[in-house]
Amino acid sequence: MTQLASDQENAFLHQIAELHPSYRLLHGPGPCNVDPHVLGISSAPQLGHMDPEFTDLLEETAELLRHVFQTENDLTLCISGSGFSGAEAVLCNLLEVGDTIIVGNLGFFSGQIVDIAQRIGAHVVNLQTELGKPLDAAIVEQAFNEHPVVKVFATAIAETSTGLLQPLAELERITHAHNALFVIDAVCGLGGVPLAVDAQRIDACYSGSQKCLGALPGLAPVTLNERAVRVIKERRTAVQSYYFDLQNLQRYWNGDHAYHHTASSNLVYGLHESLRQIVEEGLEARWVRHQLHGDALKAGIKAMGLSILTQPGYELSVLTTISLPEGVDELAIRRSFLTEYNIEIGGGFGSLKGRLLRVGLMGYNACRRNVDTVLAALEHILPECGWSVTPGAALTAADAVYRR
Ligand SMILES: Cc1ncc(COP(=O)(O)O)c(C=O)c1O
Repeated sequence: MTQLASDQENAFLHQIAELHPSYRLLHGPGPCNVDPHVLGISSAPQLGHMDPEFTDLLEETAELLRHVFQTENDLTLCISGSGFSGAEAVLCNLLEVGDTIIVGNLGFFSGQIVDIAQRIGAHVVNLQTELGKPLDAAIVEQAFNEHPVVKVFATAIAETSTGLLQPLAELERITHAHNALFVIDAVCGLGGVPLAVDAQRIDACYSGSQKCLGALPGLAPVTLNERAVRVIKERRTAVQSYYFDLQNLQRYWNGDHAYHHTASSNLVYGLHESLRQIVEEGLEARWVRHQLHGDALKAGIKAMGLSILTQPGYELSVLTTISLPEGVDELAIRRSFLTEYNIEIGGGFGSLKGRLLRVGLMGYNACRRNVDTVLAALEHILPECGWSVTPGAALTAADAVYRR
C-alpha cells in the first residue's frame, strides 16, 4: 500500500499498537466464550443488509429462533442491540403514556424494567423481592386487585444479579386472569433453562445473543404473540421509537424486507450458527447440560465452605452466586482470577457489591473442563484472600456430581 500518512498521522500511529486482545475465559454473567465455529463464521465476508441472500438468512434465523423460544409466533426477530434493546423494544411497543405495568423486580436486571417503563411514561407498580428470593404470587395477586386496569405484567425468568430462577406458572395465571399481557425477560435464560413461550402462555419475550444462546453480543431476539401484536395495532399513539418499531422491523425481517436499518450480517451469521448448534444438541439436552455443570459447580463451592446467595430450590443452573464471608475481598478475588488465570467472573450489584461473586456457565462454556478450572482457581485464590479451604475438596465434590 502506498504510504500517504502524514507526519502527524505517523506520530499518532506510534502511540496505537496493533490490537491483540487477551484470551479470557468468560465466566461472568455473560458474554461467554463462543464456539470457535460461531466465531469463525462471524468473520465470513459481509453481505449487504438488503441482499436477498441475507434476507433469506434473516427468515431462516427467525425460524431457528422460533424453535429455541418454542413458539409459532410470526413476530419473531432480532433487535440490533444488546439484551436491554429487546426490553426497550417490547415495552415501548406495548406501553403508552399513562398505562399501568406491574413489575416483578427480582434484582438489578428485572429492576431496569421499572426505569424503562417510567421513561415511556407508564405508571409502574414496582414489586421488589428480597434479593435472592422469588416473587410471591400472592403479592402479585394483591397488586392486580389494587390496580384494576393493568396492561402488562413483566419480570425475568432468570435474574442474573442474584442467580434466581423465577417460577412463572402462577404469575402467568394471575396476569391472564386480570387480562394483562405476560412479558418475560429471558436475556439470561433462553437456551439455558427450560422455557417454552407458547406452552407457558408468554405474550412477549426478549433475550440476548451473548449468554446461553452462545453467540456474540449485539442481537436481542424478541417474540410476540397475536395478542401482543393486537395491542400494538390498537395503540392510540405511534410507537415513540423509530428504531424499535416492531411492526416495521417485522416487515424487514419476515415480510417484504423493506429497509428499516442496516443490520449486521456478521452478527446474524454467528447467531444463525449458534442456534443451529442448539438444534443439533437438542434443546432439552442443552437444558440438562447446563443443569449438570451448574450443580457440579455449586457442589464444589459448598465444599469450600461457601454458600449460595439464592434461596434453595430457586438457584439458576447457568449463573451461580457465591456469598462471601465478612472480610473476604471480592475485588481481590476477581482481580486474581483475571490477572493470574485470565478468567473473568462477576461481582455483586448495589447492596451486594463487595459481598458476592457471580459465576456464569453458559453455552459453549458450560462444560466440565471449565467447571474444574474455575474451582481449581478459586481454591488457589481464596486462601490468599482470607478464606482457608481443604485442598482438593471442591473438585472431589464436583466429581461426585458428575458420577451421579
Ligand atoms: C436478566 C437480564 N436482563 C437484561 C440484561 C441486559 O442485557 P444487555 O447487557 O445485553 O443489554 C441482562 C444482562 O446481563 C440480564 O442478565
